[in-house]
Amino acid sequence: MKEGKEMNFAIVGCGFISKKHAEAIKNLANAKLVAVCDKVESAMDPYVAQHGAKPYTELSEMLEDNSIDVVCICTPSGLHAALAEQIAAAKKHIVLEKPIAMTIEETNRIINASKKYSIKLAVVHPNRFRPVVQELRKIIEKGLLGKISHATCIVNWNRNQEYYDQAPWRGTKEHDGGVLMNQAIHNLDLLLWFMGKPEEVYSMEATRLRNMEAEDVSTGVIRFENGALGTVQAATTVYPKNFEESITIFGEKGTVKIGGMNALYFEHLDIKGLSEEETRDLKLSVKADPWGIPGHQCIIEDMIKAIEEDRQPAVTGDDGKQALELVVAFYKSAEKNQPIKIGNKGE
Ligand SMILES: NC(=O)c1ccc[n+]([C@@H]2O[C@H](COP(=O)([O-])OP(=O)(O)OC[C@H]3O[C@@H](n4cnc5c(N)ncnc54)[C@H](O)[C@@H]3O)[C@@H](O)[C@H]2O)c1
Repeated sequence: MKEGKEMNFAIVGCGFISKKHAEAIKNLANAKLVAVCDKVESAMDPYVAQHGAKPYTELSEMLEDNSIDVVCICTPSGLHAALAEQIAAAKKHIVLEKPIAMTIEETNRIINASKKYSIKLAVVHPNRFRPVVQELRKIIEKGLLGKISHATCIVNWNRNQEYYDQAPWRGTKEHDGGVLMNQAIHNLDLLLWFMGKPEEVYSMEATRLRNMEAEDVSTGVIRFENGALGTVQAATTVYPKNFEESITIFGEKGTVKIGGMNALYFEHLDIKGLSEEETRDLKLSVKADPWGIPGHQCIIEDMIKAIEEDRQPAVTGDDGKQALELVVAFYKSAEKNQPIKIGNKGE
């Protein structure tokens, strides 16, 4: 792939989240949306009208277009694996919505296909690009918090019954999962990015207020490989609207909480090695532009650079797998009512 070439994108699954992909592609000078695929023809109309994209109801037909470089997968989560395998076999790079898949077996199939056909695979965990998240990651990388004792991760949001009733796949264990798999997986990804690999989890799940198969409230504890502990509390039952999304890290030389209704700000920033002025400036710089460049745009832009520079994308298939493994371990722990080991030690 020559540097500076315009990259041709396609989208499969033209529902809610596809809009963010299309918008991101439109905002990038070197990207173009040339094709879209959906089983429902009318879902593709806006992309035909606004982007001049060619519509397909059959993915196999769309994949015959040799001009397509990258396909964004925006279908229900239970379909990710089969579609990713098909797209990888057609030698197109993949931007894959979260969760990477619904099971570890499906996830391995996706990662293996990406390796077999030498294509780039990026998983959409866009919150990593939020300014406050980038700053906290730098703080941890520099070792400014010292030895970390524990962390808390909270997602107390509202998704009402109408949300789950929008489509038959929502809230099902096979195609969507509950609050952990669908919403909090973004926060679990961040928690792992900050804290490192998990070793063991213990969790309880419940479906309290929504009429759905999967969980609408979840609590769990994690022991990380480095010995630190973590707690996770997530729900979509909160009355009447989103309440809190936060991660707090407690270290021997500092305590940092990123939070708000979305985790966009430093709610608490107290680090031994940072002066009062440095602390104030850091808080203000985040407050001045809390969302930064939209996360989906960062992911798409990074994919273009990864192709041009022939490197891994910023959020890889293995990153997507780590977050998925944590969710699966939570579910298994709740089902068996016992602690579950992760990685080499268990799952
Ligand atoms: N990153 C984020 O912040 C974020 C936010 C919302 C959703 N998501 C993820 O995006 C995915 C889609 O969610 P959504 O809310 O956009 O769902 P949605 O129901 O609004 O859209 C899904 C679309 O896929 C189409 N579709 C279904 N099967 C298909 C097939 N075999 N081939 C082609 N098209 C098909 C449907 O017709 C529909 O238009 C899910 O994996 C979800 O977890 C991510």
